[in-house]
Amino acid sequence: MMILSPSILAADFLNLGEDIKAIDEAGTQYIHIDVMDGCFVPAISFGMPILSAVRSATDKFLDVHLMIEKPERYVEEFARCGADGITFHLEACDCVKETIEKIHKCGKKAGISISPDTSVEALIPFLEMVDMILIMTVYPGRGGQQFIGYCEEKVKQLYQMIRERQLHIDIEVDGGIKLDNLEMIMNAGANVIVVGSAVFQKGKTKQNTEAFLKIFKERE
Ligand code: DX5
Ligand code: ZN
Repeated sequence: MMILSPSILAADFLNLGEDIKAIDEAGTQYIHIDVMDGCFVPAISFGMPILSAVRSATDKFLDVHLMIEKPERYVEEFARCGADGITFHLEACDCVKETIEKIHKCGKKAGISISPDTSVEALIPFLEMVDMILIMTVYPGRGGQQFIGYCEEKVKQLYQMIRERQLHIDIEVDGGIKLDNLEMIMNAGANVIVVGSAVFQKGKTKQNTEAFLKIFKERE
């Protein structure tokens, strides 16, 4: 099944409640929460208070994407603040297996993410353990960037790797996804689609969400 995960990094923070309501009512399945620490990526976005606030406003699956160094330090706290899934970067963590276990111990779905320069082979030791893999299709750190073309191939490669092992792992993509490259990335094998700037637009957020979901429906 195709899943939409709008990234609130692109939302209007002065009207976050309304933006959440718009995507929720339009039928989004996930809501993507981008946490940046100013170390793993240059930018600092937001953390637990915003996650808790979003949690109080919706029952949707909260898909937390940690762009932070040593994510293992904060797993329990993000779980407590309402995350349903916690995804961390392979490049930012020296104890990947332990971190996945920690996430599972909290009763949450575990994901690992790789940046554009990291090869999919680096994921092999962890494939049996994870619920989701996030292939970044831009360099992590900010919204509104252009999709990086060669990442399509990485998604295809990962899809193959998962199939060969007969595993059930969601493939998420994040960065530069718009209506006009959606088909390409779905064909490559991605099934969880993060969209920031192409969803959150003043007065159009609900209809943008519906437009993505309509394409998913047509594929079923
Ligand atoms: C980038 C974030 C993305 C970003 C996507 O570091 O992980 O989730 O917000 O935004 P768009 O869809 O605008 O590229
Ligand atoms: Zn993200």
